Amino acid sequence: MRVRIGWGFWLFPLLFAAQAAIAQPAMTPVQQLGRAIFFDASLSEPAGQSCASCHSPDAGFASPAGAIVEGAVKGRFGNRAPPSVSYAAFTPILHRDKVEKTFSGGQFRDGRAADLVEQAKGPFLNPVEMNNPDIGSVCTKIAAGPYAGDFTQAFAEPLDCKTNGVQRILQALAAYEGGPEVSPFSSKYDLALAGKVQLTAQEVRGYQLFQGQARCERCHPSSPGPRGEPPLFTDFGYDNIGAPRNPKNPFYAQPKEFNPDGAAYIDNGLGAFLRRPSENGKFRSPSLRNIAVNEKSRAYMHNGSLVGLREVLEFYNKRDAEPGHWAPEVAQTVNKDDLGDLKLSDRDIDDLLAFLRTLTDGFTSPAR
Ligand code: HEC
Ligand code: HEC
Repeated sequence: MRVRIGWGFWLFPLLFAAQAAIAQPAMTPVQQLGRAIFFDASLSEPAGQSCASCHSPDAGFASPAGAIVEGAVKGRFGNRAPPSVSYAAFTPILHRDKVEKTFSGGQFRDGRAADLVEQAKGPFLNPVEMNNPDIGSVCTKIAAGPYAGDFTQAFAEPLDCKTNGVQRILQALAAYEGGPEVSPFSSKYDLALAGKVQLTAQEVRGYQLFQGQARCERCHPSSPGPRGEPPLFTDFGYDNIGAPRNPKNPFYAQPKEFNPDGAAYIDNGLGAFLRRPSENGKFRSPSLRNIAVNEKSRAYMHNGSLVGLREVLEFYNKRDAEPGHWAPEVAQTVNKDDLGDLKLSDRDIDDLLAFLRTLTDGFTSPAR
């Protein structure tokens, strides 16, 4: 419906209509505690950086700053772009699929942490991220901070850094990340699944392309998640889709201490973690929920090499049709079967974009 300024008559139904939206449960005390920790910028060394500095709610809980984000210590950069943490809670632990004989699951883009509890230790201690000397000192800071008392209500006992305090901090973060603020399943797509709104004709065409000619469905399936969750748009599998090197990655210029290979550094992803060359260049297929938030300026892929969601679609469409334009970072293991020459028209790409935008959380529409 169009709202025209100056026409009170047109505004009237908007003001009085009940809104169609997915109702959210209130956060539990443990989730609220996790939220306080997630946004606490006093937990880096030096102070100034929180989890939200790299996983911003305004950016779909992905990087607010484009590609690779500077750590708490000025001038230090990691090798990868921060992915969205929304729906990461639903990723199973890294395992080998016996039938498909492929790897699946695990936190981080290379699966090296089992679950969110193990994962959260990473950024607190990583010298190119929050740079704490040990996890105990994070607990000590929280114990001396303004919300330390909230642990008593959340966990029925006070925060004790000598016993299970650290575990509770990590559990609270994981609960927040899996809870209704970070993973709300409240997109237009979810409302359409619930029968509360209808997708437009263009969005439906985009969805059909997604499942058909564009082959996105093969790795970002719209079938229910592993425990029956609404579709997560990932099969948690690993692939080398041939994402190019990002020449602007500040990691290349990091000192030898952090990057012994300098400008010759190659990110082998799963292969480096497992020390298996057959897995080199493979990264976990990410969820596409909230993928269109900041779609024009967002830097996609493990190294932030493709800027803008349209560029991502052009890459899938024409990687092999326009050889040389997107030279892969790791050439040996590139998947040549499922992408690269999709023969999509500009209109098809517009339709796919329209569909991907329906995966953005927090959709509300006035009921007619
Ligand atoms: C300096 C930026 C930075 C900060 C601060 C940061 N992260 Fe991250 N985060 C990243 C990057 C980069 C990755 C991907 C790393 C990789 O794949 O090797 C990541 C990955 C993750 C993932 C894995 C998501 C997935 O799908 O694999 C989760 C969950 C996460 N971070 C949560 C947190 C939490 C919780 C905090 C605070 C304790 C935090 N991050 C602080 C940059 C950051
Ligand atoms: C063969 C499996 C496969 C197919 C087919 C596939 N993807 Fe992906 N997708 C991946 C993997 C793996 C990554 C992560 C690559 C990386 O980080 O280097 C990815 C990354 C992405 C990203 C970037 C996510 C981020 O957070 O940076 C977007 C967007 C995306 N895919 C959308 C699509 C769309 C749209 C289609 C259909 C046109 C599609 N994908 C088809 C496996 C696939």
